[in-house]
Amino acid sequence: MSRKKISLIGGGQIGQILALISAQKELGDVVILDIPDFEGPVQGKALDLMEMRPLEGLDVNIKGTSNYADIADSDVIIITAGVPRKPGMSRDDLLDINLKIISHVAENVKKYAPNAFVIVVSNPLDAIVYAFYKVSGFAKNKIIGMAGALDSSRFKAFIAMETGYSTQDVSCLVLGGHGDTMVPLTRLATVGGVPVAELLDAETLAAIEKRTRMAGGEIVKLLGNGSAFFSPAQSAIEMAESFLMDKKRIIPCAGLCEGEYGINGLFIGVPCVIGAGGIEKIIEVELNDDEKAALKVTADHVAAVVAETKL
Ligand code: NAD
Ligand code: LAC
Repeated sequence: MSRKKISLIGGGQIGQILALISAQKELGDVVILDIPDFEGPVQGKALDLMEMRPLEGLDVNIKGTSNYADIADSDVIIITAGVPRKPGMSRDDLLDINLKIISHVAENVKKYAPNAFVIVVSNPLDAIVYAFYKVSGFAKNKIIGMAGALDSSRFKAFIAMETGYSTQDVSCLVLGGHGDTMVPLTRLATVGGVPVAELLDAETLAAIEKRTRMAGGEIVKLLGNGSAFFSPAQSAIEMAESFLMDKKRIIPCAGLCEGEYGINGLFIGVPCVIGAGGIEKIIEVELNDDEKAALKVTADHVAAVVAETKL
């Protein structure tokens, strides 16, 4: 059986970590594609990773390129092509420049890897994954946006930090857009099966929810140049692995809702079953009135940004 093929469109901060984790997990051969001006750097990163392989007995191949023909027949494509935000910027501020980039990427992915499972990372995530869908014409089950996996990991991390218990035992879910209006579902969060409301007081939980919503900006401010890259990369790999191994994991991701949660025609963070069929199912969790209202706020925000794409 031939090895799987993972192509990374964008070989910057997140792309290089994606390549490292993919290689260390031997998920498949890796192609890192960037623009011609950055072909040298991605070729250097790929060669560095090739030279790392003996240290861990790895036998996947990693290639850097700017030639889209090299992504042919990819099983998975992870797109980070685009610019990240700077301190003081919202993710939505990236729309104009990253919309142009994703349109170019979508045309080439459609041409060279029409059967791939595509994971979009570039921001503003919910609008950019929608743009990929509209430009590429891919089926909705083969396109997914990475955001909820990251936002939920941040939510889990903060709960673990506050309780002092293992991150391994924290379970929780963030719905909605990848922005300040995202919806951490505190009511359903547990640690070892114990509801978090029995472990932390309401004030602490409210602070955790707020920190989760603003977590991206917190890192952007600290870094001073660029945004988070370790946790976004690991989040995207979790999604890719569920597809490649047909694991049927339920991961919060931006999937196309066509009636689910009363939302129609938007990619937005919802619990997605990811297996060999891509998004195999969107799970509709029962929401209370407050949660439904919060989801409408975030869906309305996503709809407004998507409308700006004019697609
Ligand atoms: P980066 O600037 O380090 O890397 C982006 C790479 O894309 C660069 O190497 C650039 O040359 C390349 N690129 C630009 N145009 C391209 C094109 N047409 N084709 C191929 N490559 C192209 O940025 P980063 O930190 O890796 O972030 C990438 C994107 O991911 C940003 O938009 C950022 O906002 C977003 N992001 C999303 C999440 C999320 O949760 N969805 C999390 C973090 C970052
Ligand atoms: C950011 C990522 C997390 O822009 O979306 O910070």
